[in-house]
Amino acid sequence: MHTKKTLIIISHAPSNNTKRLQEAVVKGAKNSEISNVNVKIVSPLDTRGDDIKSAHAVIIGTTENLGYMAGLTKDVFDRCYNSWLEQTQGMPFAFYVRAGLDGTGTKRAIESIATGLRWRLVQEPLICRGEFKEEFVTQCEDLGLSMAASLEAGII
Ligand SMILES: Cc1cc2nc3c(=O)[nH]c(=O)nc-3n(C[C@H](O)[C@H](O)[C@H](O)COP(=O)(O)O)c2cc1C
Repeated sequence: MHTKKTLIIISHAPSNNTKRLQEAVVKGAKNSEISNVNVKIVSPLDTRGDDIKSAHAVIIGTTENLGYMAGLTKDVFDRCYNSWLEQTQGMPFAFYVRAGLDGTGTKRAIESIATGLRWRLVQEPLICRGEFKEEFVTQCEDLGLSMAASLEAGII
């Protein structure tokens, strides 16, 4: 009998396209072949420190605005960083960025914060850059599936 693990998805989805990406990540993570992973989705505004302390892996989704992660995504780190620093070292995580133009500033910033937290980046960052493409949806679904499957298999 395996204890269920929890995958938390903290995702900022301010537009129809980003809602589609969020739904795709959730769909992948909830793949019917995965039975031992609880998938919890929270918006940045509703994220509290304890949400991650009780999770086993994290996916962060954000837009890039003005060369940086969305303000609401940054706010999660501003509010939770100190408590996570103590209690979430080694946390496996992945992230995706919807970037209409670029994405590099957001990628660099999230990697830097995660290094400070001693989180483990277990997937190549997914940057959905440029004009919106259907392949972004597939890539997000793959990201969710891969994280949930890896968690269930005990390899992250
Ligand atoms: C005020 C503003 C600033 C933006 N700045 C950036 C930016 O610095 N880099 C980038 O890649 N995209 C930028 N974008 C585009 C957003 O990333 C994009 O519109 C958002 O992710 C939503 O995606 P969607 O338009 O496909 O719904 C900006 C958009 C707005 C409205």
